[in-house]
Amino acid sequence: MELMEAIKGRRSVRRFQDTPVRREVVEKILEVVDYCPNAGNRNSTRGVVMTDREMIDYIGKAHMKIIRNFNAGITALPTEEEIMASESAFHNAGTVLALFGPENFYFSSPDAYIMAQNITLAAYEQGVSTCIVGEVLNSLATQKGQEYQKSMGIPAGFVPQAYITLGYCDGDYPKHPGRHYSDFIYV
Ligand SMILES: Cc1cc2nc3c(=O)[nH]c(=O)nc-3n(C[C@H](O)[C@H](O)[C@H](O)COP(=O)(O)O)c2cc1C
Repeated sequence: MELMEAIKGRRSVRRFQDTPVRREVVEKILEVVDYCPNAGNRNSTRGVVMTDREMIDYIGKAHMKIIRNFNAGITALPTEEEIMASESAFHNAGTVLALFGPENFYFSSPDAYIMAQNITLAAYEQGVSTCIVGEVLNSLATQKGQEYQKSMGIPAGFVPQAYITLGYCDGDYPKHPGRHYSDFIYV
């Protein structure tokens, strides 16, 4: 597939079929990570492929609840009951990539999002749909979230920067909304 075809064709998808994305396909997509520009060539982003239903469900719900609370002016972490009653930020994806970066590194976030963009394009080429789910607050800040992070082998001091949902689009593939940025100014 031509690069421009992927760039222009990819859309964020938020409803997925039940068909899982096979590990070989995920591995093919992840070939791009070694080719990402990254600050100082420190390669500081750490990635996790989540396929565990309970883990995805918990983190997606915690993410949504923590952001909604924050928007409502509530900074205290939600209870486990509140989290489980929430919607999930990951829609119904069966595979979710978590990208972590060092907490005190200026470029953790740009590094992760550049990687996320490469991943979404490589996934599109493989017929896999994606949606970047941005991380603003630490969705793994709860005790259970911290336990999950530990179980992933991601050390303390790293925080989630971005998530990417992966799956096969259910229903019509979204159309480009036709928006455009304002014209670039030539000076
Ligand atoms: C930094 C960033 C954060 C995003 N966060 C979310 C999110 O939390 N939930 C979501 O459904 N989509 C999220 N998106 C996807 C955008 O909504 C989507 O890219 C935008 O609407 C344009 O649509 P397109 O990707 O189909 O071109 C995010 C995208 C970016 C780049």
